[in-house]
Amino acid sequence: MTALLEIRGLTIDIARDEGPARVVDGIDLTVMAGESLGIVGESGCGKSLTMLSLVGLLPNRIRATAGSAMFGGKDLLKMTPGALRRVRGSEIGFIFQDPMTSLNPVIRIGDQIAEALIYQKGMTKPQAAIRAVELLALVGIPAPEDRAQAWPHELSGGMRQRVMIAMGLAGHPKLLIADEPTTALDVTIQAQIVDLVRDLKTRLNMSVVWITHDLALIAGLADRIAVLYAGTVVEDAPVAEIFDRPTHPYTRALLDSLPTLAGEAMSRLPSITGTPPEPGRRPPGCPFAPRCPLAQPACSDAVPKLAPVPGSDPRHRVACPIVIERAVA
Ligand SMILES: Nc1ncnc2c1ncn2[C@@H]1O[C@H](COP(=O)(O)OP(=O)(O)OP(=O)(O)O)[C@@H](O)[C@H]1O
Ligand SMILES: [Mg+2]
Repeated sequence: MTALLEIRGLTIDIARDEGPARVVDGIDLTVMAGESLGIVGESGCGKSLTMLSLVGLLPNRIRATAGSAMFGGKDLLKMTPGALRRVRGSEIGFIFQDPMTSLNPVIRIGDQIAEALIYQKGMTKPQAAIRAVELLALVGIPAPEDRAQAWPHELSGGMRQRVMIAMGLAGHPKLLIADEPTTALDVTIQAQIVDLVRDLKTRLNMSVVWITHDLALIAGLADRIAVLYAGTVVEDAPVAEIFDRPTHPYTRALLDSLPTLAGEAMSRLPSITGTPPEPGRRPPGCPFAPRCPLAQPACSDAVPKLAPVPGSDPRHRVACPIVIERAVA
């Protein structure tokens, strides 16, 4: 397998009057061709900003200040806005959380998808209209010719999210990034959307990055899981390893909270006290140390680097010298 996306040392800062506040602190992430990567972590840990930085959609005053993101031989962080716009449409597709804020309420569903195709792919209007109906069929929308004529408010939440997926797929991307695309939906519909994306990933031979609060939800979709904490990757491993051998104390706390875990519930972790640091108020060394049951004074010395877990799958890496020492012992 070859790497489709390689993020190295990504650092993101928010410009503030009192000085820059670091929100993402040296993230490394790799997505192989055809692979699906799940990204989990509490609210505010930098999941969305990390992905937005790749396609030049960071909000005002927030910038990627170090690192690289190689995609198809080019560094996305160094591309011009125009070049990034082309990547966004055709090579990297995005699905966001709330379809009602991303769909234009006064444009019919089919026309919205067609507009994206005309803009991104240079299709003619009739070509785009046909392709829009095909895309609606692809994402499992019944009677797609009729639904193409519908207004966004006429569809259910789950159907609107399918429309968003169709738009994300319009450019036939190599990579689909889904940022908590099911949080607003009920549990059954969430599972259907996950199944749909898994199916499309295989059929279209794409890679998928799926951001969520909900580790259980993506268990069946992700090949690999990266666990983020306060703008760092604390554990990165094949999905079975994460469930069978969670190693970082933070990952263990996430799994302990699984039975009660549903969307918002993960903003509080029942098994550990405290909250993640605010941007700009990161403690020195390991950002998790203040909440960690295993913390020792040395944890404040340096930010731990990801390293393989002895005795586990070689792709299982964790950023905690203490648990690595224990695994050796
Ligand atoms: N537009 C903004 N202006 C100022 N701070 C921001 C802005 N967007 C995000 N932040 C801050 O950056 C940090 C990371 O934000 P990000 O949106 O990446 O988190 P997240 O992991 O996606 O969280 P969630 O799970 O809630 O979506 C947060 O602490 C947030 O307060
Ligand atoms: Mg987010």
